[in-house]
Amino acid sequence: MTFALHDAIAELATYNDDPAAGGITREVFTPTYERSVEFVSGLMRDAGLEVRRDAFGNLYGRLEGTDPSLPAVRTGSHVDTTLNAGRYDGVVGVLGAIEAMGSLLRDRRLRRAVEVVAFAGEEPRFASGCIGSRAVMGELSRADLDRLVDRDGMSLAQALAGAGFEPDAIETALWDPASVHAFVELHIEQGIVLESSGEQIGVVTAIAAPHDLRITLRGAADHAGATPMALRRDALVGAAEAMVELEKLAVGSPSGTTVGTVGVMRVRPGAINVVPGEVEFDVDVRDSDAEARQAVVDGFLAAVRVMATTRGLTAVVDEIVRDEPGTCAPFIVEAADAACASLGVRPRHMISGAYHDALILSRKIPVGMLFVPSAAGISHHPDEYTGREDIDRGAAVLGEVLATLAT
Ligand code: GLV
Ligand code: MN
Ligand code: MN
Repeated sequence: MTFALHDAIAELATYNDDPAAGGITREVFTPTYERSVEFVSGLMRDAGLEVRRDAFGNLYGRLEGTDPSLPAVRTGSHVDTTLNAGRYDGVVGVLGAIEAMGSLLRDRRLRRAVEVVAFAGEEPRFASGCIGSRAVMGELSRADLDRLVDRDGMSLAQALAGAGFEPDAIETALWDPASVHAFVELHIEQGIVLESSGEQIGVVTAIAAPHDLRITLRGAADHAGATPMALRRDALVGAAEAMVELEKLAVGSPSGTTVGTVGVMRVRPGAINVVPGEVEFDVDVRDSDAEARQAVVDGFLAAVRVMATTRGLTAVVDEIVRDEPGTCAPFIVEAADAACASLGVRPRHMISGAYHDALILSRKIPVGMLFVPSAAGISHHPDEYTGREDIDRGAAVLGEVLATLAT
């Protein structure tokens, strides 16, 4: 056992495509990402795990149990990042699991196999997040691999093939739900609940899910000097009006937990002296309350229709993704509570506002999640930080939970 968790986190952070801009940029299936996965594979091997990758590029490290006929326990997260992000999102769940499995190897003989997974593409390089976990759950068709494209127009199929994987063989990556007893994901909270309450471990009971839409508004790209205000069909002003409406609807949502974001916008033709004739923007609406989320989406789409009619625009709506919110399995929540008690930690039951691979798996497999605090709640940002003690505690609790579930 040569595994040193915090050194590994620091080294993984050096696999970075944009260090000059700050933070870490390591998008799935890039050469940098593939090299980082090689590094993690080496850590798994050093920890005594049996390593493999599936046809979608998901990475597995397996610790065999004493009874191979029993469904396995799985754990893990992701090591890809969004743009200019932090070093802990996803990474803590993969490297923390390797750490936890090292101690399981040393100390216990477990009946069930325990397997750590680094899912490919939790972050939405291809518009949809969690593509690795969707692939193992049979939620990505061959046509989806051509449909989903990144911001440069490269399809997921092309990126997969370019990284040495097999778009035509993704069904070989499928999990048989009956072969998995439980999946437990350790993750940073990415919010401020634990830090503000002074608590150290969150035990997740439900996971909020996104409903994501791409809206294309088309008006007229006229001369910015020669076209009077009253005669314009400005797609960007229409988009601005729609975004403000989205904010109002989310703020007013009765659940109190709906959030709505526009994080991507493309303006065409994109010249200072041309009225914007076409705008495409991506809308992300989330909640753990599916009805409240639907009400916000319905209200938003109605507002887009009214705005488009008033402004003489056409509006096309494409659905990127619509996930049902997930629930954590009570037996895993109980195991997590017991693990906290055995380590003298008081767990806080909470909802995850971020989505995770565990959300996708929760449709067919019992899942649970453990959170460790995020300093100032900052995430998806270079300043993302979780202290060493918090990470060590999270890995220790994870180890206890895995041991209980695998015994
Ligand atoms: C995951 O990265 C999310 O956006 O919730
Ligand atoms: Mn993330
Ligand atoms: Mn994550």
